[in-house]
Amino acid sequence: TVRVLTGITTTGTPHLGNYAGAIRPAIAASRAPGTESFFFLADYHALIKADDPQRVARSRLEIAATWLACGLDPQKVVFYRQSDIPEIPQLTWLLTCVTAKGLLNRAHAYKAAVDKNNEAGEDPDAGVTAGLYMYPVLMAADILAFGAHRVPVGRDQIQHIEMARDIGQRFNHLYGEAWRQATGQSGEPLVLPEVQIDENVATLPGLDGRKMSKSYDNTIPLFAPPAELKRLVMSIVTDSRAPGEPKDTEGSALFQLYQAFSTPEQAEEMRHAFAEGIGWGDAKQRLVLRIEEAVAPLREQYAQLIARPAQLEEILQEGARKARETTVPLLDGLQRAVGLGGFQ
Ligand code: TYM
Repeated sequence: TVRVLTGITTTGTPHLGNYAGAIRPAIAASRAPGTESFFFLADYHALIKADDPQRVARSRLEIAATWLACGLDPQKVVFYRQSDIPEIPQLTWLLTCVTAKGLLNRAHAYKAAVDKNNEAGEDPDAGVTAGLYMYPVLMAADILAFGAHRVPVGRDQIQHIEMARDIGQRFNHLYGEAWRQATGQSGEPLVLPEVQIDENVATLPGLDGRKMSKSYDNTIPLFAPPAELKRLVMSIVTDSRAPGEPKDTEGSALFQLYQAFSTPEQAEEMRHAFAEGIGWGDAKQRLVLRIEEAVAPLREQYAQLIARPAQLEEILQEGARKARETTVPLLDGLQRAVGLGGFQ
């Protein structure tokens, strides 16, 4: 069986980018025969980006309800919160001790913070927490603790998956032999994961044409009420070409969004409409329709789920129990491999 794993950081309201880049492909993958799926709320990761407890708490609830509304079946998928799995921070430390500091210096998020400080003439590490710096190690632990083979994510996460591979490989190299001796198993202690990108989506743009992201404040919430959805779509930036003038699909945020929410035939029709000079208002109306088609049935489900936190709690507790059936024995073997564990 193939193990598929992915997570979403609980810092805000889930948006169309999360849906098209991660939730939709992950749920599709979870339905394929011969797969075992682990989907989770990355709530420890949230503390790196947000220090507002109410916002984190609300986001956890919203993201839990979103996964289920989008069709995650908790009977088939192991669905849990990162913070309910103590083996994840335990593994984080084992991995921290084999991770080169230089590897973390190259992480995009850390580098971006340093570059910004340098430009502003500040101390390069001003405002950078050790949490931000360690982000890739915690994420490697998320993945490696479950022996995941495949990780469906958006393009912005590729570097993190590559780092998880590098860190896992380093651990295997240092401790593989000790692990085989300690556990009597063959093979390697940690499975090196492959990234899985939905090429039709790759990176979904936001209202301003940059990557749709909570940190750019340019998102369309997945479950925005219809009126808000319409208002937001109408505010997507376009060039100033008038109706009747041919329009470029290349580099058009509007077209990319349309493509992510339509069949290949519908996208082809829109490509023609662009060439024939469809007006921007008209094209936006059509995009609203496509998104509504995809989202309206899920929105109902979402409203029901979010109103029942106790039921969500029960599902997540059961998910954590199942998740730990994998992580507890794995960590036991790893602890012994590095020379920890009980005296014999
Ligand atoms: P996060 O919470 O920023 O995003 C969750 C998922 O949504 C994808 N995504 C996008 N895809 C396409 N276009 C966009 N504009 C867009 N914005 C977001 C992300 O690529 C991601 O797949 N570090 C991760 C969470 C995480 C994780 C993990 C993921 C923690 N541990 C282990 C996989 C495996 C993050 O912050 O994603």
